[in-house]
Amino acid sequence: MVFVSRKEHFSASHTLASDNLSKEQNQLLFGKCSNIHGHNYYLEVTLVGTPDEITGYVFDLKELKDIIKTEILDKVDHQNLNSIPMFKGIVPTAENIAIIFYNILEPKLKRPNARLHSVKIYETEKNSVTYISDKL
Ligand code: NI
Repeated sequence: MVFVSRKEHFSASHTLASDNLSKEQNQLLFGKCSNIHGHNYYLEVTLVGTPDEITGYVFDLKELKDIIKTEILDKVDHQNLNSIPMFKGIVPTAENIAIIFYNILEPKLKRPNARLHSVKIYETEKNSVTYISDKL
């Protein structure tokens, strides 16, 4: 098994608040994060597979870059995550961002010799979340 990764960047704002809670409850639970604020996110997409016999690639990273751009970056960069359809009814924590991005990318990255392994979201330099599906 060989792992290949592509890292991309996007900037977005979000509000951590649940629709099921009052403003006061959200304030208590999420503190300052219940106010709208922004992050410079990094998104790392990792595929696993075996190198193709002809190209020697597990996955063409140029193609991976284009898929991430079309499926994710074009939809989230310089947006408020809370108002994007993919996050409707979901608190856009780094955990949920990783899961949602994974589910969007997974069908687009299936190849005979490769598949999506994990999605890692860096919300700050120090905080990151990795999602690896247990469905595979
Ligand atoms: Ni935040």
